Amino acid sequence: MPKPVNICVVGSGYVGLVASVCFAEIGHSVICVDNDQSKVKLLQDGGVPIYENHLPELLQKHLSVGVHFTSDLHAAVEQSEAIFIAVGTPQGSSGSADLSYVEAVVCEIAQCVDSYKVLVEKSTVPVYTNEWISQCMIRYGVTRHLFDVVSNPEFLREGTAIIDFLHPDRIVVGANNERSAELLRRIYEPLTNGHYYAADGALPGSLTADNPAKLLVTSAQSAELIKHASNAFLALKISFINAVATLAETVDGDIEDIAAGMGLDSRIGTKFLRAGLGYGGSCFPKDVAAFSWVAQQQGLNFQILEEVRKINENQQDVFFNKVRSALWTLRGKKLAALGLAFKGGTDDIRESPAIVILRKLMEAGCTIVAYDPVAMDKTKAVLPPSTSMHYASDPYAAAADADALLILTDWTNFGCLDLARLKETLRFPVVVDGRNLYKPSYMLEHGFTYASMGRATTHTGSIGKEGKRRLPGSIRIETLVEGLEAQTDTARQEA
Ligand code: UGA
Repeated sequence: MPKPVNICVVGSGYVGLVASVCFAEIGHSVICVDNDQSKVKLLQDGGVPIYENHLPELLQKHLSVGVHFTSDLHAAVEQSEAIFIAVGTPQGSSGSADLSYVEAVVCEIAQCVDSYKVLVEKSTVPVYTNEWISQCMIRYGVTRHLFDVVSNPEFLREGTAIIDFLHPDRIVVGANNERSAELLRRIYEPLTNGHYYAADGALPGSLTADNPAKLLVTSAQSAELIKHASNAFLALKISFINAVATLAETVDGDIEDIAAGMGLDSRIGTKFLRAGLGYGGSCFPKDVAAFSWVAQQQGLNFQILEEVRKINENQQDVFFNKVRSALWTLRGKKLAALGLAFKGGTDDIRESPAIVILRKLMEAGCTIVAYDPVAMDKTKAVLPPSTSMHYASDPYAAAADADALLILTDWTNFGCLDLARLKETLRFPVVVDGRNLYKPSYMLEHGFTYASMGRATTHTGSIGKEGKRRLPGSIRIETLVEGLEAQTDTARQEA
């Protein structure tokens, strides 16, 4: 193993915390700093503030040995060679990233620097932030030879962040000189020379001692752009497949077959071609807006990003209309909602399509009974229990006597429900699936009316004969139902 590096990580959010325990896991000595004293206390006591696979076991393994938590930034900076800045960069006005937390941390760091340090941008930041950090350090009186600024973007997905860190597709280091690049190479050496993968107790993943991680060194500006461009491209892939899904439905195509057929082309690949409710979370919506803003600042019109955003937002309306089509009218309907998190495997509800859709359904007069394996506590803070919002202890309790079941998050368990039990439990056997977890033919066999994304709705029961009910050509059942509901609403108002 190479000589351990003393590392300070500022911010114990999802990026900072994962980075801290993973740096400890590959042999470094880490101090993680946060100004939220209650969070620091929780971490010092062995608590885990976020739901993330492998995090509890790694925290337990390294707590007070390889990783320490503190609110004392001054002491942490003094003891460290590399200082990773992993504080939030929320969306500000006009789509730009709000860098005030980054600036505040840099100002504080500047007041504690008395020997050479490498400041590393880990937060997602717009191009030229490295330059601003340098300017800020100089303004606060630090001489230029006492620091360098490096960009080292993270590509971690929530839910699989630990494995993504330890088995990365690539490590990107944006450094404008060799001295700082060398320190980052040393930090990641256990992953790039494969020693970590050969060690006892290493977490298994896609990389091995013979096939270790790759590290790419670029300029700081290029590294900053790599991060934004990667997230924007993945968002574009999702919006593209969602737009194709909408088209597929109008011609009785099946988006799952279409995505499989496209994905088999190795130049396209199968990943991020899952049609659904659109992307959510704390990254894609914010980063698409921030990247668009970066382009505008350079006098460029990156129009495609605006289309990506619009298609994404439209997916929620597409789903809402499907629910309405399945139920005719919405006022007074009781709906079981499976999933609240923005994707399966996490308790994060930030920018979750599920929350947006539930709000719209409640505004339309529905009562919701929701279930999510881990995101209910967080959701209760934004959608408190009320006469129209209830929480259940499992999917079947949520489904009890509901007019329809909605699938809003792609939790694996939601794809293997006991359909006979579900049918017994629901008031009507109607499932509207925003994540395509079932095959329409299978749901039809089990007696469900089943609507999903980018595939024809299959119907059972008394309305028409069983099977697909897509009307050929121009008239769509959604349009018919919307028209009928509008008539009903007008009649109600007139009455
Ligand atoms: C994303 C990126 O995947 C990470 O590489 C990046 O580091 C991270 O943002 C970040 O910038 O911090 P994450 O937000 O955790 O990670 O989630 P993803 O797994 O990428 O999913 C994002 C959204 O896209 C979810 O709402 C998911 O349901 C949706 N999605 C994903 C689809 O609708 N279809 C797909 O095929 C894939």
